[in-house]
Amino acid sequence: MKITIFGTGYVGLVTGTCLADAGHEVLCMDVDENKIARLKDGEIPIFEPGLESMVKSNVAGGRLDFTTDPVAAVGFGQLQFIAVGTPPDEDGSADLQYVLSVADTIGRHMTDYKVIVDKSTVPVGTADRVSQTVAAALEGRGESIEFDVCSNPEFLKEGAAIKDFTHGARIIVGTESERVMRLMRECYAPYNRHHEKMMFMDVRAAELTKYAANAMLATKISFMNEIANLAERLGADVEQVRRGIGSDPRIGYSFIYPGCGYGGSCFPKDVQALAHTATEVDYQPELLNAVEAVNFRQKKTLYTKLAQAFDGDLKGRTIALWGLAFKPNTDDMRDAPSRTLMEALWEAGATVQAFDPEAMKECRRIYGERDDLVLVADRVQAVKGADALVICTEWKDFRIVDFDWLKRQLSTPVIVDGRNLFDPQAAKEAGLMYYGVGRGDSLRSCS
Ligand code: UDX
Repeated sequence: MKITIFGTGYVGLVTGTCLADAGHEVLCMDVDENKIARLKDGEIPIFEPGLESMVKSNVAGGRLDFTTDPVAAVGFGQLQFIAVGTPPDEDGSADLQYVLSVADTIGRHMTDYKVIVDKSTVPVGTADRVSQTVAAALEGRGESIEFDVCSNPEFLKEGAAIKDFTHGARIIVGTESERVMRLMRECYAPYNRHHEKMMFMDVRAAELTKYAANAMLATKISFMNEIANLAERLGADVEQVRRGIGSDPRIGYSFIYPGCGYGGSCFPKDVQALAHTATEVDYQPELLNAVEAVNFRQKKTLYTKLAQAFDGDLKGRTIALWGLAFKPNTDDMRDAPSRTLMEALWEAGATVQAFDPEAMKECRRIYGERDDLVLVADRVQAVKGADALVICTEWKDFRIVDFDWLKRQLSTPVIVDGRNLFDPQAAKEAGLMYYGVGRGDSLRSCS
């Protein structure tokens, strides 16, 4: 099949590359000329394991190409995927200007039947607006050409995006048209071989499914963080509670890891956008608001614990950070808990000495050169001469630590473990003051 993808951000690039890898002919379009030139050279703008080699092999194989030319893009594919950004507006609602501008472009240049596929995460009702925009552009040209719009939300996790695309749990398509169902089946056939993953539903249900899935996962995390905060105050170890409740198959083990709050490009944005949609239809989203509020508070707990360990005075202290990305295997720092911590530390007059395996360039891009931000080459240098260590991201390389060595490095042996990587007892036995998340016993012993 011939497929056009609008937007070469995270979702667009992964979708286009995986569809090309499955044997389709794919043309990716972006307005950013510099990005397209780099992609043509096989240089990818994001960090995603396995993606670069997949882009290169499919470009070399002639199945994947990139363009900035909207006429060529619209002319190319029978399927036109819209995978451009939907950044949050100030009120938390999703900004649809890029999505609608692509719809307008398609309407202005199409010459035969197209299926327009909404891949971006968009509020319920967007497919109708895309349809109206395409129709208006066609009318402006005095043309009447047939087209359909369907919703096909993505469920990609950063760091595991290729696997999620090729081995995802489901492929959701919101449409009532038999013709669209047939074409979308053909598009996804290579990834729908072993068992039936395609789920057809009405457009609005598909649009809402995407938000509901992310909001549900965010709810699990905020719930567990609330239990962790309670466990801390009640002297219970939340890690034992996690195993205790996870063993119930109705609850399950996934997404109940307490920590320093969720970040990234999806959960914060999608929970806020869904809450905003709710208010637009006169519904007060109590639960969604609470999920967001608990997360906001949780991101501050790293600083609160440090402040507690240093009697509220962090001025002139050097704090080592292991991990800057919002989660491992990505360089993404959007809404990362590390940012809430760093900004609070700077406000308090402390210096940050940080290491992250992938996100240091991104950190420099966000914060620029400043005296109170020292980025070092590895985790060993991060703790050298530091007063305390905070773990913000659970990179694999951080999991094994010689506590005796660590104690010798830190002038005040404080460790704030925002991801519960370590055994509080072992840390305590080595003479460290250990603050985990919801590990009641450890907190009691060091307060
Ligand atoms: C998420 C969804 O998982 C994905 O399906 C959707 O398409 C996009 O949003 P992503 O943001 O890449 O993917 O990351 P994910 O691995 O889901 O983690 C999100 C955040 O939740 C991270 O900050 C992570 O640290 C946190 N998290 C996750 C927890 O704090 N506890 C958990 O148990 C799981």
